[in-house]
Amino acid sequence: MSDFSVALMSSAPIESADSASRPPTAPAPPAAVRDPYASPLAGKVAVVTAASRGIGRAVARRLAADGAAVIVNWHTSASAAREVVAGIVDTGGRAVAVRADLGDRGGPETLFAAAEEAFGGVDILVNNAGIGAVAPTADVDEDTFDRLFAVNVRGTFLALRLAARRLRDGGRIVNISTGYTRATFPNVGVYAGTKAAVEQMARSLSRELGPRRITVNTVLPGLVDTDGLSADVRANLDAFVAATPLGRIGEARDIADIVAFLAGDDARWVTGQAIVAAGGLV
Ligand SMILES: NC(=O)c1ccc[n+]([C@@H]2O[C@H](COP(=O)([O-])OP(=O)(O)OC[C@H]3O[C@@H](n4cnc5c(N)ncnc54)[C@H](OP(=O)(O)O)[C@@H]3O)[C@@H](O)[C@H]2O)c1
Repeated sequence: MSDFSVALMSSAPIESADSASRPPTAPAPPAAVRDPYASPLAGKVAVVTAASRGIGRAVARRLAADGAAVIVNWHTSASAAREVVAGIVDTGGRAVAVRADLGDRGGPETLFAAAEEAFGGVDILVNNAGIGAVAPTADVDEDTFDRLFAVNVRGTFLALRLAARRLRDGGRIVNISTGYTRATFPNVGVYAGTKAAVEQMARSLSRELGPRRITVNTVLPGLVDTDGLSADVRANLDAFVAATPLGRIGEARDIADIVAFLAGDDARWVTGQAIVAAGGLV
């Protein structure tokens, strides 16, 4: 299964008062009622692809903070994934790090199998893994095209197919696309093409899984401050900030909070949607 995993921590049992030791006149304590706002994803299991860094890391942390047990997928950054899991466990959450290359045909299956073994099933799938390439179409070679489509499209398709087969009823699927599918920029054609494919697969799947109360939505981030931001964009950051009504570029948390909304019960009536989160730039 995983190259490493961290022991699970369960929350402390609720202490109950011993009724025999209470004076007869004492009012009965209120019945223990779980506050649904305190841990909205308690009892849920989430698979987050590409969760060792960037947006995926923020999503894993947020879903765990909301009470979900999380599979933290990593590919090459073992220590970064270990830190994500340790941070979740240290704050009373549950998480396991699992190595898988989403460009491999077996990658998504590794993640689902790990979730089922560690936590008994999957309720939430966040398809965050995606790689980019910035180059004029005239300069994109076939290997780059193939790798982008293998990770971004085939990897997402295989994860969606597993979710269609094995996600528990009432589950949630959230894909991460890009605002580049809505705005016209040069040098990102193949990348935007892969994400457009993800958006279309998600729309159709939302119709297929609706009868099982599984929602399928996609978030389209604008620029987000992660290692994934291209050097090209970093060099022109001031121009992007100036063009953004909210006056900055995104933080990974900005996206994680939207994913958490879509993953929770509050978004039960939202499916088949593509939500742009770009500070108004797109
Ligand atoms: N940053 C932005 O401005 C922006 C904007 C719009 C959309 N997005 C999308 O948001 C998603 C996350 O981007 P990011 O900026 O957060 O990326 P990032 O900071 O560059 O992080 C990359 C993450 O992807 C993982 N990863 C890379 N290749 C992988 C593979 N083949 N299999 C599994 N995991 C793999 C890395 O794992 P290891 O480090 O363990 O290898 C790492 O956790 C992507 O789908 C991207 O297209 C990003």
